[in-house]
Amino acid sequence: MKNYIKFDTKYSAEKLIISALQFKENPFLKKEIGKGLRIGLIFLNPSLRTRVSTQIAANNLGMEAIVFNIDKEGWALEFEEGVIMNENKAEHIKEAASVLGGYFDILAIRAFPTLIDKEQDMADKVIHQFIKYSQKPVVSLESSSRHPLQSLADMMSIEETWQKVSKPKIVLSWAPHVKALPHAVPNSFAEWALGLGHNLTITQPDGYELDAQFTKGAAIEYDQEKAVADADFVYVKNWSSYHDYGKLPKVKGKWLLKDHQLKENAKIMHCLPVRRNLELADELLDGNKSLVPLQAQNRIYAAQAVLFEIISNMG
Ligand code: CP
Repeated sequence: MKNYIKFDTKYSAEKLIISALQFKENPFLKKEIGKGLRIGLIFLNPSLRTRVSTQIAANNLGMEAIVFNIDKEGWALEFEEGVIMNENKAEHIKEAASVLGGYFDILAIRAFPTLIDKEQDMADKVIHQFIKYSQKPVVSLESSSRHPLQSLADMMSIEETWQKVSKPKIVLSWAPHVKALPHAVPNSFAEWALGLGHNLTITQPDGYELDAQFTKGAAIEYDQEKAVADADFVYVKNWSSYHDYGKLPKVKGKWLLKDHQLKENAKIMHCLPVRRNLELADELLDGNKSLVPLQAQNRIYAAQAVLFEIISNMG
């Protein structure tokens, strides 16, 4: 594995989950492997979990991690080819990525979508430009289309808490929000769940269907109550419309889940940050069904497994 930007194969995903669980048992198992290596964590958008967990993961492997909030502390970046840069963008991605590639052994990038230009967002233009011009391995810290470190931690959390031979019923449920949010987390969650052969149902209001390239093979159920009634895991997340890109079509009915709608032993998941009592009720977040703290904790070991795999392949 050179770059880590999306689900690859079932084999590689399972290998990463096993590795992440091993690092959870013993975080310093490979504490020398990253010695002398430097990772740049480049943020074009805010973060709490991704930023801190990836720093800890790098440190556990003996690497030096430097965080650069390029959106706030760097020059405004131009991503278009061949433009006359006579407006507000002071630096082109060609120079910025090339220079950062010279400073670091691995680059990790967070670049959210515009939610305006669907084609550009779905092509993950920003992260691919970093790959092209840095000439260094690139890890996605959440791109326009996917959040693969989150999904690895999510799949690891399911693996850890589901100790039966049969596959669990997993439901990805849309939840209310006040803002237009990206599709990266639900896209990626569906891609990983289906790629690993899980039984996935997606429930969302009319108009909030995700891109079929991520959801092919999932059952689609517009009745949330029916979808979650026999679920073993319910992953709650808001996203904006994909078809009416970035818009918030009017929603009928109530989509804020309540504890009594779920089985006694069901588990509730969310990637965080969460808006309490808008996306997820206090009774679920604070109750014993919640896997949310586990998911956040597992972000460290998911990142560690990915960095370990990349370093192991650097030659
Ligand atoms: N879940 C997640 O990626 O959290 P942050 O946006 O805080 O990094």
